[in-house]
Amino acid sequence: MKDPQPSPSGEGGAKRRVRGGHRQPDDRNDSILRVIVRRGSSRIDRALPEWGGEEVIVRYDCATGAWIIIAIHSTRLGPTVGGTRLKSYRTFSDALGDALRLAEGMTNKFAVFGFPRGGAKAVINVPQGFQESQRVPLLHRYARLLRQLGEIFTTGPDVGTSSVDMDIIDAVAPGRAHSRSRSVGGSGSSSPATALGVFKAMGAASEIVFGSESLEGRSVLVQGAGKVGETLLDLLVSDGAPVAFTDIDRHRVAELKKRRFAFVEPDEAYAYPCDVFAPCALGGILNRRTIPRLRCKIVVGAANNQLHRPADADALQKRGIVYVPDFVANAGGAMAITGLEALGWSEAEALDRVRSIGAVTRLVLLYARENAVTPEEAARRIAQDHLSAAPP
Ligand code: NAI
Ligand code: PHE
Repeated sequence: MKDPQPSPSGEGGAKRRVRGGHRQPDDRNDSILRVIVRRGSSRIDRALPEWGGEEVIVRYDCATGAWIIIAIHSTRLGPTVGGTRLKSYRTFSDALGDALRLAEGMTNKFAVFGFPRGGAKAVINVPQGFQESQRVPLLHRYARLLRQLGEIFTTGPDVGTSSVDMDIIDAVAPGRAHSRSRSVGGSGSSSPATALGVFKAMGAASEIVFGSESLEGRSVLVQGAGKVGETLLDLLVSDGAPVAFTDIDRHRVAELKKRRFAFVEPDEAYAYPCDVFAPCALGGILNRRTIPRLRCKIVVGAANNQLHRPADADALQKRGIVYVPDFVANAGGAMAITGLEALGWSEAEALDRVRSIGAVTRLVLLYARENAVTPEEAARRIAQDHLSAAPP
């Protein structure tokens, strides 16, 4: 069944926050219409009450037909930070669902480390056939929306956006975009810090499972040899790990093969025998279909929302596979960049904080063992403790 869309409305500046809120209409947003989300008109009815977040801002971009969804999950630890994901979703509900889950993931990501920022995420759901020539004007309109929102939300790159897009946003909304290009004074890509954090998390999991933090001799399969995946492969090789990768992008596969990395066909990746499986491509890949096929001892990678459903954490545990929660392993990029750009950290401090992902992973895995819960549950409890301890 086709998913009904909420209705864009230009009438009388009918702006509405989906939950709560008192912001005034702003006429400057010429081509972005405010949206009335009608109860009963879509799966929003089910998605929002179950979500523990604070606010969702929805806009329709007339010029492109894109939907902009900004999910503010929690301001408990500070103003929110979250990537901007730009891609085509099958339905509006899919885009909303992704924004809600990713925003919650950002809250957990910061809270588990006691990092003073809240979680949020922006999704720009562009229609199929979106033209690259529409990108800059769309980002300008999006940036004007960020400017209106004020200090509550700053963004960074995510799937479908890069540092160059952050430069474009920042030109219209100064101070609202992290991870800008180094050539314009930003801190550059978050990917190296993310990859280092995943590497440290992998070392900690290896220590718990195999008794040694070193990955020397431990076979690792990296799923998705993109910006994070390729750096992770390099770190693993320098630690003496035999590595292999899989990817669906022919060009990436050719480039990585040129670098003499062993390639595994995407279909064969889940059943590939290895010590560590490192998902660095997409979310939702740990599910009813894939978990029974895994032949690894540890799963740890950069992709957000790797578990398809919460129950998949139990399924991994039952199979004796140690899963490091994604929001623990992949926090390096967001923490380092936000620390450098918003909290005045030095490069050395940022590096230390990324390396501390190893210690936090150890803590999470030991807590899980001692309390007979999954690592996912352990990390959520630690995050929740930090949230509860913050002044309201
Ligand atoms: P990227 O877009 O550079 O790389 C992703 C790679 O995965 C691409 O080469 C793509 O072809 C490949 N891929 C897509 N679907 C696949 C499949 N079914 N099987 C195998 N390969 C597939 O992205 P990046 O920046 O490396 O990020 C990787 C993941 O980590 C993403 O899910 C992202 O959301 C997440 N992440 C990234 C952070 C960063 O700092 N870059 C921070 C936190 C999370
Ligand atoms: N894509 C990043 C993440 O999921 C978001 C981010 C990058 C936030 C850089 C701030 C700075 O963690």
